[in-house]
Amino acid sequence: MSLSQIFRDDLLAGQVAIVTGGGTGIGASITRELTRLGATVVIASRKPENIEPAAAGLSEELGREVVGEICDIRDRDSVAAMVARTVERFGRLDHLVNNGGGQFFSPAEGISGKGFDAVVGTNLTGTWNVTRAVADAWMLKHGGVVTNITMLTHRAFPGMAHSVAARAGVEAMTRTLAVEWANRGIRLNSVAPGYVASSGIKRYPAGLNLVQQMQSVVPMKRLATCDEIAWMVAYLHSVAGAYITGQTITIDGGKELWGDYWPIPDPKPMPEIEIPVEPWETE
Ligand SMILES: NC(=O)c1ccc[n+]([C@@H]2O[C@H](COP(=O)([O-])OP(=O)(O)OC[C@H]3O[C@@H](n4cnc5c(N)ncnc54)[C@H](OP(=O)(O)O)[C@@H]3O)[C@@H](O)[C@H]2O)c1
Repeated sequence: MSLSQIFRDDLLAGQVAIVTGGGTGIGASITRELTRLGATVVIASRKPENIEPAAAGLSEELGREVVGEICDIRDRDSVAAMVARTVERFGRLDHLVNNGGGQFFSPAEGISGKGFDAVVGTNLTGTWNVTRAVADAWMLKHGGVVTNITMLTHRAFPGMAHSVAARAGVEAMTRTLAVEWANRGIRLNSVAPGYVASSGIKRYPAGLNLVQQMQSVVPMKRLATCDEIAWMVAYLHSVAGAYITGQTITIDGGKELWGDYWPIPDPKPMPEIEIPVEPWETE
């Protein structure tokens, strides 16, 4: 099995985690890192074509079974069944990473009521659904650690009115649950990525040259890697994070800090963007 570049390989030995959206992009990197640290990881999302090859590919790569579950986080029955199967099979559930989510890029006037509801339903209500199910099934009695993957919520996020509202809601919910559930031994935090070179950004509309613009507005002049997000999640889920709760940790190369009066020249050429292709992906 390949080892973590950062952490000791038995940090999470014997523990069990659910990573929603764990079959693609950032979620696959989080799954890889938690598995390397000794956890048994269940990856859960809607599409068998995402989950099945990822579960098989990660299991083979890591030499430890990664379990695939088909689950729509908007559907409370589907979530409850997935969580119940996990607890029944492994007898515990120590970690939850609410990474599953998504949105479509649109000016606000192009977002229909249905579209807004769908994005809030996935990113805010979906996060609540899984968190509450995991709390009810295990963590309220035994404790645990939850990390919610959000996005940059402190400034404007044009084209993302629905999602930035939902993610700000997740961050507020995280702070609140951290206080309510501190005495249950549950820690909850949000990790807010800036722009990440992942499968997700392939969904941005073609032709707008958005990815190049994104690099240019980051002081570090590059996108994050999926591993750079996964390492923070692993830190929070290890004993290193034992006194951190209710926080939003931003990983954005300085993007959210930067105003516009201090020009930072673009390097020429700009760094190449490499979106990782998982071994089980065909393209
Ligand atoms: N890439 C970035 O720059 C960036 C920046 C900030 C935040 N984020 C957030 O980070 C997370 C991971 O993004 P990514 O870049 O790795 O993109 P991605 O590959 O599109 O990941 C999204 C994952 O969520 C799952 N998902 C979507 N709707 C779901 C639902 N209703 N129920 C269960 N699972 C669902 C998808 O699987 P199925 O389609 O199989 O359901 C997929 O595995 C997302 O929440 C994303 O919005 C990404």
